[in-house]
Amino acid sequence: MTATGFAARIADDRRAVEERLAVVLPRADEEPVSLHGAMRYATVAGGKRIRAILCLAGHRLCGDPHREAALDAGCAIECLHAYTLIHDDLPALDNDDIRRGKPSCHKAYGEAVAVLAGDALLTLAFEILARCGVPAEPVLESVRILSRAAGSRYLVGGQVADLEGEGLEPTEERVRFIHCRKTAELIGASLSIGAALAGAERKKVLEIHGIGRSAGLAFQIIDDILDIEGSAERAGKALRKDAKRKKITYPAHFGIGVSRETAGRLIADGVRAMEALGDDGYVGHIFSLIVARSS
Ligand code: IPE
Ligand code: IPE
Ligand code: MG
Ligand code: MG
Ligand code: MG
Repeated sequence: MTATGFAARIADDRRAVEERLAVVLPRADEEPVSLHGAMRYATVAGGKRIRAILCLAGHRLCGDPHREAALDAGCAIECLHAYTLIHDDLPALDNDDIRRGKPSCHKAYGEAVAVLAGDALLTLAFEILARCGVPAEPVLESVRILSRAAGSRYLVGGQVADLEGEGLEPTEERVRFIHCRKTAELIGASLSIGAALAGAERKKVLEIHGIGRSAGLAFQIIDDILDIEGSAERAGKALRKDAKRKKITYPAHFGIGVSRETAGRLIADGVRAMEALGDDGYVGHIFSLIVARSS
């Protein structure tokens, strides 16, 4: 796939996600307006949409039979992701005031509404997925993948380990435990839910999930590196905070050079593995963006 072909396709996918998200979220003037306003505020504007784009890409890789359903699933994942960001920024967690270039949800709406908007986005994600309109079996499989990735064994457990790890020695075992859970699994799930909704056989769905999980680990490694070297303006969030909070990060254990090399290797392996599964280069290009990104 050429660079121009890739740019056009990813722009199309991103536009489709933005348009659909605006439709699947409750309107901001629906009561209670604070809650629905906060849900839209945290979800609709900004964000790279990498998870929804991966969902569409995983689906396309497996024949693209139900694009509208994959688009809904991608939006569901973005709602769930937005919930994790709202909660991640709360004073009880990372205490961050800026997200996606504007005040964090709790700064704009207050902590109580922000917590509840997060709860509602998590629930909405499963509502959207459950009614996405493909045969029941692939939907059930997608619900299973997403609920597992978002639960206590993965995302929420990773967030707890991240918080409880503050101040501890950043060992390789600890950082892998945290990153594989808080970030990598949902990214693997994004790609594999697309495949599952396309009706791909279970073995292929699992294989795709594993490749996406490794790309997700690279994603969090780069997020850690950007916290040290990136531009807050480009990232749309406050940086240089991980070291202050003594977070367990890849660079804290391995240093920036080795961390960057590791992310590069994970992505290169992922690109090759996707090619072997018949990727026309689209997933590979998305993976490459993960290491090249500056936001
Ligand atoms: C931020 O995710 C949280 C992490 C897992 C590092 P993204 O970097 O995907 O955030 P948005 O959606 O683009 O704002
Ligand atoms: C967040 O990791 C992971 C989740 C939200 C699940 P970070 O705390 O590093 O994300 P940022 O840097 O605040 O975006
Ligand atoms: Mg955090
Ligand atoms: Mg954070
Ligand atoms: Mg971070």
